[in-house]
Amino acid sequence: MVRAVTLSGALLLLLYVPSTFAVKTQDFKTCAQAGFCRRGRALASRAQETASWKSPYSVDSSSLAVASDQASFTAGVKSSLYPDIKFSLDVRIHDDGVVRVRMDEVDGLRKRYDEAASWALIAEPKLSRDISWTVGKKDVRALYGAKKESEVVVNFEPLRVALLRNGKEQVVLNGRGLLHMEHFRTKESSRPEGTPEEGLDEEAQAVMKVRPMAWFEGETEDGYWEESFGGNTDSKPKGPESLSIDIEFPNHGHVYGIPQHATRLDLPTTTGENPTYSDPYRLWNSDVFEYMASSTMSLYGSIPVMHAHAADSTVAIFNAVASETWIDVDHPTPKSTNTHWISESGILDVFIMPGPTPDDIFGQYARLTGTPALPAQWSLGYHQCRWNYISSDDVRSVQKRFDEHDMPVDVFWLDIEYAEEHKYFIWDKKNFPDPVDMMHDVEALGRKMVVIIDPHLKRTSNYPVYQEASELGVLVKGKSGDSEYEGWCWSGSSSWIDFFNPNSWEWWKRLFKTTSQGNKWSWTESTDNTYIWNDMNEPSVFNGPEISMPRDNIHYGGWEHRDVHNINGMLLPNITSQALIARSDPPKRPFVLTRSFYAGSQRFGAMWTGDNLGTWDHMAAGIYMVLANGIAGMTFAGSDVGGFFGNPEPEMLVRWYQVGAFNPFFRAHAHLDTKRREPYLIDEPYRGMLRDILRLRYTMLPVWYTAFHEASVTGIPVLRPHYVVFPRDEAGFTLDDQYFIGGSGLLVKPVVHKDVTEIEVYLPEDQVYYNYFSHHAYRGSAKGKQVIVPAAIHEIPLLIRGGSIIPTRERPRRSSPLMKRDPFTLRVALDKTGYARGELYLDDGETFSHLEGNIVWREFVAEKTAKKSKTIKISSSDLVSKNPDAAVDGVSLTKYDPLNAFAKSVEGVRVEKIVLLGLTSKPVGVKVEGGDDLVSEFVSGVAAEGKKEGEASVLIIKDPGVFVTKDWTIVIQL
Ligand code: GLC
Repeated sequence: MVRAVTLSGALLLLLYVPSTFAVKTQDFKTCAQAGFCRRGRALASRAQETASWKSPYSVDSSSLAVASDQASFTAGVKSSLYPDIKFSLDVRIHDDGVVRVRMDEVDGLRKRYDEAASWALIAEPKLSRDISWTVGKKDVRALYGAKKESEVVVNFEPLRVALLRNGKEQVVLNGRGLLHMEHFRTKESSRPEGTPEEGLDEEAQAVMKVRPMAWFEGETEDGYWEESFGGNTDSKPKGPESLSIDIEFPNHGHVYGIPQHATRLDLPTTTGENPTYSDPYRLWNSDVFEYMASSTMSLYGSIPVMHAHAADSTVAIFNAVASETWIDVDHPTPKSTNTHWISESGILDVFIMPGPTPDDIFGQYARLTGTPALPAQWSLGYHQCRWNYISSDDVRSVQKRFDEHDMPVDVFWLDIEYAEEHKYFIWDKKNFPDPVDMMHDVEALGRKMVVIIDPHLKRTSNYPVYQEASELGVLVKGKSGDSEYEGWCWSGSSSWIDFFNPNSWEWWKRLFKTTSQGNKWSWTESTDNTYIWNDMNEPSVFNGPEISMPRDNIHYGGWEHRDVHNINGMLLPNITSQALIARSDPPKRPFVLTRSFYAGSQRFGAMWTGDNLGTWDHMAAGIYMVLANGIAGMTFAGSDVGGFFGNPEPEMLVRWYQVGAFNPFFRAHAHLDTKRREPYLIDEPYRGMLRDILRLRYTMLPVWYTAFHEASVTGIPVLRPHYVVFPRDEAGFTLDDQYFIGGSGLLVKPVVHKDVTEIEVYLPEDQVYYNYFSHHAYRGSAKGKQVIVPAAIHEIPLLIRGGSIIPTRERPRRSSPLMKRDPFTLRVALDKTGYARGELYLDDGETFSHLEGNIVWREFVAEKTAKKSKTIKISSSDLVSKNPDAAVDGVSLTKYDPLNAFAKSVEGVRVEKIVLLGLTSKPVGVKVEGGDDLVSEFVSGVAAEGKKEGEASVLIIKDPGVFVTKDWTIVIQL
């Protein structure tokens, strides 16, 4: 499978070449192959088999202290098994009701890694000032919330933490007694002297005598001190230090999140009979070659965030741990969920988010880890990538062919072959003799380039980036802690930048400066319109254990790689995005695509689902994965259109573009060995279909940008699964093949199967939904209803929820910046009461001047003047002055000027057309309030307010002469 080839001159590459699609499961551990996971699961089995099971951990009530500000308490914790070992518990309640539970070992032999949260959190959370504590003999209780509806109860013996709402338990930690923080020990002290090694199995009693903790920890010291896997040995110098905790969600039958796995959104149980789901979900950032479309195996990124959902409640937890973590999911009853989290190292640091709605959870999580960054608007256009565009002329000719075929595109990408010997930043001048000219040619049409920069540096003296990193001492060290770790990646023998080392930060930022930095190296052969793709940052190490770094490698501060692995990948896009901000004045919004990520990565850019396969299964899995990433913050997400591996047939490629056009991040990409498949290469009629899909995406950029704006302020994801939009509708809890786009009211169900001509779409409510293209009106039902929607190859099942107003821009352009002054179309889809509402957010799309109020944020409303009135008004009004705190992230725009510089720059932009769906009858008059009569056309059809299905009535108001930045009202007289 791995072969060496010579490519583009003298490059020696290691290439993965797919023969048949098959993940090499043997490259990656199962739970049974990881000592600490084995121990954790064995502990859970013993607990289940033992009726009298009781957690050995208890709170020492004599040490309990409520802080003077009343927002937290601390207490000592001890384990009956190890009376000399001390632990501390710290429970805090944040001002939005989030509960943080921390436990650490005190005065231990070593320090446990306790910095995971500091990388994820945006700031120290504000604590609540309004809590009533009751310290009793058996427990401590904290009542809080506006109506004192929330309560945290910490039982002393055994230690158990519960969050209650209105007296009902919602989240319980250690309810099943599986909490275990393995304390640091030495190899010698671990086992009492003279322990007989033989005979333990036969004489359980004898074991108990020499090892009284065996009922809890197991009879043997399984995998405590050294472990081997796949020919690699982990020296485990710190011995056992794992951490496990059970988290129950009584009354919540569905759990979602903990990306990234290729699995359904509604997480299948891992403790049942299904052999595919017999292992816990694993979080250990991994470069899994040809990953499976349905599996609990770990993938490139890890976000330990889980939502638990029921019709009347949503709660969530964020388990801020950075080491390898396995999570079992079980449903003891259909309406409740038990989970068990087993981590290799670190402190216990769990944030319990109380909800009670999904939107509340997004707010609570965003206050902890930040909202997704508002992306540059162009990055929502179409991205054309492949491994590789092989020369600057290749790039120019691809651009030319897009233009010849009238296909819009915003970004051309360069994969690793642009770099001489895979020394990132350094152009292979044979094939890219004129990189800056090439970039300027791309920029001429408002387009951008994205270039790959991976974190492995070729260990060679003629590579300034490696040389400087080495001199600065900012490379990851091997297990000895004093020499640079060396491994194998695209660039051959490589070392890895240790971004945990603060000395790397300013240095890395300097590299991206496009101007000369004196005698220091910087990327002068680049432009301010060149953006960055960070790949292989799990990190992927071809000859390392499980294709990654040895766990006993040493990072800054002396931490082992095992302690920080799942965070490691997030630091590269973090610092890279800062570098892109710092390189120009005034700063522009960065664009960085990352493959690896952690909680909080949403602040730094986009992600994609890695090396998927060109199969229908993977096309479908891409959707579930993007939804799951989104609910854990990483909403700027997409999967490789076309599939990374393989040569999709035309039908599949068309469907894949439809999926991509309805992903937040829309990029086609392909492996080096695949046939070229740029959309203009395919034959008709498919080529025309691809052009239509690309254009459709561009017409909808205002919808996407408005949805991203909302996500950037509220944390609510751009793609919204049913349980998020209709939290009470049980039938929607398992749905993950159709979803809503932002708050727009657009509902899409991309087709991910062959030979489909029509498809069932689920309508969750008693409401009218309109086919976006045909205007067919479908009727939902309060009980939920499936409707049949046409879905032949050229058709996308896309519905508008009655009650929505969708802003689009319908002039075909070559790239999105060329649309800046294009007029808008408004599709007004009346609901069954004759009402509709929508939003439009605009700004310059590339600087940070939106934070100073250079924005346009409009609300459109269509409503009758009174309940039975025959007058309908469609109006446009300013939303910023109504919501100065929700207009941009983190700044209050109380002094908003509707005539701000950006608004002025688009003040001539008109609404060129209004399409009003579902009127009851032909209007007798249409005019601008206080103005002229307007030209309109009416085609009669089904009214929103009736019960009939069929083509809706359509009123088209042509060129109403109103402007998008202004207040206006259009009066329709029936
Ligand atoms: C990894 C990436 C893939 C990229 C390749 C070469 O496999 O996931 O997208 O094309 O490396 O850089």
